[in-house]
Amino acid sequence: MKRKYMKLLIVALVSSFCVAIFFSKLKDVEHTQRDLAKIPSVPAVTPGKPTTVPVVMNTKPKRKPNQKLMSFELSALTISETFRKDIPKNGAFWNRKLHSFLRQFDSTDNQTHKDPRDKFKCQPESFELLQTNIQDIHSYPPLYGDFLRGMECRDPPLLIGQPGKCSSDSGDDQIFLLFAIKSIPRHFERRQAIRETWGRERHQVRTVFLLGRSSEDDPSLDKLVSYEAQQFQDLLVWDFHDSFYNLTLKEHVFFKWMLESCPDVSFVFKGDDDVFANTQAILDYLKSLKPEESTALYTGQVIFDASPLRDPKIKYYVPQSFYEGPYPPYAGGGGFLFSGNLLPSLYHVSFYIPFFPIDDVYTGLCFKAIGINAVKHNSFRTFDIREQDRENPCVHKDLLLVHQRDPQQTMRLWRNMHSDMLTC
Ligand SMILES: *[C@@H]1O[C@H](CO)[C@@H](O)[C@H](O)[C@H]1NC(C)=O
Ligand SMILES: *[C@@H]1O[C@H](CO)[C@@H](O)[C@H](O)[C@H]1NC(C)=O
Repeated sequence: MKRKYMKLLIVALVSSFCVAIFFSKLKDVEHTQRDLAKIPSVPAVTPGKPTTVPVVMNTKPKRKPNQKLMSFELSALTISETFRKDIPKNGAFWNRKLHSFLRQFDSTDNQTHKDPRDKFKCQPESFELLQTNIQDIHSYPPLYGDFLRGMECRDPPLLIGQPGKCSSDSGDDQIFLLFAIKSIPRHFERRQAIRETWGRERHQVRTVFLLGRSSEDDPSLDKLVSYEAQQFQDLLVWDFHDSFYNLTLKEHVFFKWMLESCPDVSFVFKGDDDVFANTQAILDYLKSLKPEESTALYTGQVIFDASPLRDPKIKYYVPQSFYEGPYPPYAGGGGFLFSGNLLPSLYHVSFYIPFFPIDDVYTGLCFKAIGINAVKHNSFRTFDIREQDRENPCVHKDLLLVHQRDPQQTMRLWRNMHSDMLTC
């Protein structure tokens, strides 16, 4: 009898021990996932916008979250020599910041390569710091101030995500092409035109629209945006002010979202909501690439030999004391294509490249830093085509992208291009 009790006791002890270990492991897993996901369950409320924050959709990713975010070895990241050489090390603010980041990158050895995300705690730069570093800051356009103060803020909360966006459709895992369209809250009509035409989802093709929030001076569109997101499941909304100078931030958080929610996409099209893309021609082009081309693609209408514009009245003005040197070759931001497998490097290198006021120049800098050259493609027309051809469906059949078309032109072009009666 006694022996039987002893046996029972031992069995009970051993099994409770196992259960304890099991649960402690479970907790560890939960913990790291939560740390890395950093997606708040409750949206942060911006002061002055108290009432209608978009509802947070189910942000729990279906796949194991952050696989690529976690598995990326920072020691695998190298920053190209030509990139370092071509950006002058001189007095301009951005240049100094870049080279200081590069020194940090070089001085950390492999073992202590900390996650660069730790560096950015989003403390807006003080005016004093900026003034000390940029002597003529008073002559900068007022909006530049907002940009400069926010340069270190890189992790705004995701208010609406689409974690299931790239889950397998009908058994095959891989999404071939993701359209990522920069939009702003009030462009409902443009988004709808895209959904009904070239951005319509199909087998292995997905579409997301990238949005921030409207300014405090605008009437709140939060509820409409929230409804739209539920209805169409294609909006990504972050909690930052959606402005021209914040487009670089939009790019950075988009890279992060891709790694978390869509890491296995073959190709990404990133573009504006006022372009016309020829989806079939894009797919045909991508499928025609050789294997070595398709893993290192960065193409569009490439602008070579550009330099900063120094006229303060121009939208793309960049002050002398902010940036000096030429721009790298870059694909016009109206629409360009790149390989999905470059995302981990792009995202991580972007921590070592200070934000830039012009997003497509920034993209060019990131690609150059990871050693990928922009390759020009003649069928991307971000400066549009001859006036008389702009409504001609036959001309558009051979093009991959034109800028710009309004929603009505987009609808008409698409309908006519796909009409059985069309003879080209
Ligand atoms: C870091 O790792 C790379 C390759 O993994 C190696 O070539 C390099 O020498 C290492 N650097 C240091 C400082 O250990
Ligand atoms: C970018 O967004 C942040 C967060 O909303 C805001 O503080 C900043 O002023 C914005 N910057 C610009 C240039 O609009």
